[in-house]
Amino acid sequence: MATDIIYLNGEFMPLEEARIPVLDRGFIFGDGVYEVIPVYSRHPFRLPEHLKRLQHSLDGIRLANPLSDAEWTKLTQDLVARNAGDDQSIYFQVTRGAAKRAHEFPKDAKPTVFMMSSPLVTPPREQVENGVACVTATDFRWLKCDIKSVSLLGNCLLKQTAVDAGAAEIVMFRDGYLTEASASNVFVVRNGVLLAPPKNHLILPGITYDVVLEIAGANKIPLEVREVSEHEARSAQEIWVTSSTKEVLAVTTLDGRAVGDGKPGAVFRRVHALYQDFKQTVMRRAA
Ligand code: PDD
Repeated sequence: MATDIIYLNGEFMPLEEARIPVLDRGFIFGDGVYEVIPVYSRHPFRLPEHLKRLQHSLDGIRLANPLSDAEWTKLTQDLVARNAGDDQSIYFQVTRGAAKRAHEFPKDAKPTVFMMSSPLVTPPREQVENGVACVTATDFRWLKCDIKSVSLLGNCLLKQTAVDAGAAEIVMFRDGYLTEASASNVFVVRNGVLLAPPKNHLILPGITYDVVLEIAGANKIPLEVREVSEHEARSAQEIWVTSSTKEVLAVTTLDGRAVGDGKPGAVFRRVHALYQDFKQTVMRRAA
């Protein structure tokens, strides 16, 4: 299994052979949505939740889901089986399909369905133990950040700003409140209380975010889901970023200044360990 096998519009094929028309609205307008699903030991993690969010994104762009959840699940299992590696990152993309270029929706375009697998790269031990540097920016993206849209130019520009500064992520504020990072959600710990910005149109409803809330609830970690001011974030003892590929990662410097004592905090260490246990339990049950 040396070549990557992808799925495109009804067929599995080697990545190199996959072609889409240049008039695909994903290419022309960024008119599509996507998902990223981690696979551990060949088991997709939280697939039903990812499929639910995919449906939310499709509803948000008024595009009918071209597949049923059972079909998505079967295709995901087939794709995982056809690719090498026990731990994979599965990517789904649905676009409005190819049509003559016009902004309004085409009447008879067929959605493009694309799925691929990449090796799952989770943070190296060094980052888990020492945390990562982040910088901050004003969140200048649109007001529908709950849609997991492939129109990611804002996120790409923001992420590059972080990379240019030697940082792992960029933590964003809008109107004086914390939103999220370019490809992750953000949590803050103040005085032992975990603070999470609420799920609304300003952030992506992260699947990992929900896992963290569940873990906090089950382990009686004090939690408040509410707006977090820029001041509260900047003076927090802990800041974390979460995503399907980063899992839970401590931010130890923000704009070059230490967060707390500059080391991953006690609440982070506890939740990181609980997250790893949670994953193992879920995977054992699936096996
Ligand atoms: N990104 N916020 C944004 C803007 C994201 O792009 C992501 C994930 C998240 C975290 O969501 P989840 O926990 O469901 O992965 C939050 C994926 C990994 C990506 O674009 O590659």
